[in-house]
Amino acid sequence: MTVALAPSILSADFARLGAHAGEAEAAGADRLHVDVMDGQFVPNITIGPVVVRALRRVTRLPLEVHLMIVDADRWLDAFADAGADGLTVHVEGANHLHRTVEHIHRLGKRAGVALNPATPASALEEIVHDADLILAMTVNPGFGGQSFIAGTLPKIRRIRALLDRVRPACELEVDGGIHAETALLAVDAGARVLVAGSAVFEDPGGVAAGMEKLRRNLGG
Ligand code: DX5
Ligand code: ZN
Repeated sequence: MTVALAPSILSADFARLGAHAGEAEAAGADRLHVDVMDGQFVPNITIGPVVVRALRRVTRLPLEVHLMIVDADRWLDAFADAGADGLTVHVEGANHLHRTVEHIHRLGKRAGVALNPATPASALEEIVHDADLILAMTVNPGFGGQSFIAGTLPKIRRIRALLDRVRPACELEVDGGIHAETALLAVDAGARVLVAGSAVFEDPGGVAAGMEKLRRNLGG
């Protein structure tokens, strides 16, 4: 079983973002997770396409852009143009999710569909056939460093079962409160891609140590 690690740059030092991204790449990160927040969909504001463009120049890792914004459709082209490899949109913010996913595919990018903790797995039933990645939030989006919501685990199992049944090629990713112990719970429930922000970029031993702790617990 392969589990991919996607460090979230939200917890990186933005004054030395390139160096931090480089450390994650050197430590074996599989992709970089980029959290985009607009102060409306979530109560925080982070970054825009300009930062994605800057990151694109300094890393070879795939950039997955997690859009926590209202009206994500308006911004898909800009993030694609800036160098995103994948664009993930929330079920809760999309009026025409199928159209949005088609738009992402037309841009030649991987389409991710994200679910907040209170949104049921059943919300995926009609869109799962078109998605490349499902992102199950294990915290309420908005901030790094929050505690993992264990109540999301049964839902992660239900999503795993749905994907196994109808779309095994679609990835299942979890995001929020992932550290060595919760990584194990999420993988046991069926996640195969782990987003981790504070566990990677705020480990006292550095980025490589943070990644190693996550991996060691997974036995691989
Ligand atoms: C939360 C973001 C996450 C966040 C995770 O809204 O979507 O990607 O960076 O941070 P940690 O791993 O610290 O919970
Ligand atoms: Zn995220």
